[in-house]
Amino acid sequence: MLKNFWYAVEFADRVDRTPRRVTCLGQDFVLYRTESGAAVCLSDLCVHRGGALSMGSLTGDHITCPYHGWQYGTDGACVRIPANAEERTIPRKARVDAYPTTERYGMVWAFLGDLPEAERPPIPVIPEHDDASFTAVQYEMVVDANYERTLENVVDAAHTPFVHGTSFGNPAKPQIPDFGVRQTDWSAEADILLSPPPPKGLWGLLSRRRPRPEYVTVTNGWYLPNVVKLHVRLPIGDLILYDFNIPLSQERTLIKILGYRNFFTGSWADGNTRQRIEKILLQDRPIVESQRPELLPFDLSDELHVRSDALQVAYRRRRAQLRKQGWWVGDDDIVTGDAPRRTATVIASPARRDNPELASAWVHKARTGGEPR
Ligand code: FES
Ligand SMILES: [Fe+2]
Repeated sequence: MLKNFWYAVEFADRVDRTPRRVTCLGQDFVLYRTESGAAVCLSDLCVHRGGALSMGSLTGDHITCPYHGWQYGTDGACVRIPANAEERTIPRKARVDAYPTTERYGMVWAFLGDLPEAERPPIPVIPEHDDASFTAVQYEMVVDANYERTLENVVDAAHTPFVHGTSFGNPAKPQIPDFGVRQTDWSAEADILLSPPPPKGLWGLLSRRRPRPEYVTVTNGWYLPNVVKLHVRLPIGDLILYDFNIPLSQERTLIKILGYRNFFTGSWADGNTRQRIEKILLQDRPIVESQRPELLPFDLSDELHVRSDALQVAYRRRRAQLRKQGWWVGDDDIVTGDAPRRTATVIASPARRDNPELASAWVHKARTGGEPR
């Protein structure tokens, strides 16, 4: 799992003045809004006795731990310890990690890492979001598979005729013509020709008089750390799915989807669009849940790649580079989804680097990450 990236952790319309727990990279966070509406993201682990701040309450912009009432500010520093006499000072170590947040595309993003602002990789661009000809639906599903397996599944065009043969794949035309990959440091995309069967149901009915090309161009792409795009050009218009693969743990993934379309843009068609997204995910789910090994191998030669796997190979190569530079967080020290633990580690936040004088002020150790083996 990659640290030092912006992660979309929740749909923005779900974040309010009630503290909310979200999980990413095997760590729990609490999300809430300040009185002025800014999103706050803190480690959900009180440094006193490990209470979950997300079960606490807000007083102004401060969050109160439900166990002994310690109050933390938006920067993660504790501002009140009720059991202490008034004159006692609050220990410097009474602080939790606070993560930078921003809102974009109707999502709250948290920067999970300790890089200073100027060095942070960019948030993926979603041009359809501000394009008035598109309308969007939200969707989500939890899958019992590793997030890199679910990520690769979406950029993998060759599985479409087999796994989605009854929806948009065409078992009679499984060949993938050669395609080029457009790659940057943070993304890779390819235009791939597919030959889907005619659309069924409502979309088929409403588009039956339109000419149907033999091939449609589908654009598949990944955007680090965990976003994949699937742009399908249908005879009736464009359907573009942005798929956020959020690692709840090594073996559970919360897939959040923003689905944009520029046809049937009335809200009457939202339910139908969601049903189509769900159908696709339900077709993929048993496949990704049964893949072995569960975790994506680090060694390229541990699985066999062919020409049509170019996007996945590009992903594995790039992730290997980032792992080498220390951006991979542990396979062994994940807090959630594992057996009971005696220690808690967290993703280091920017304050740990910004303030060297605070270097010793952290109760929970930072995840050290996996050294390339
Ligand atoms: S565990 Fe949070 S205040 Fe004691
Ligand atoms: Fe699929």
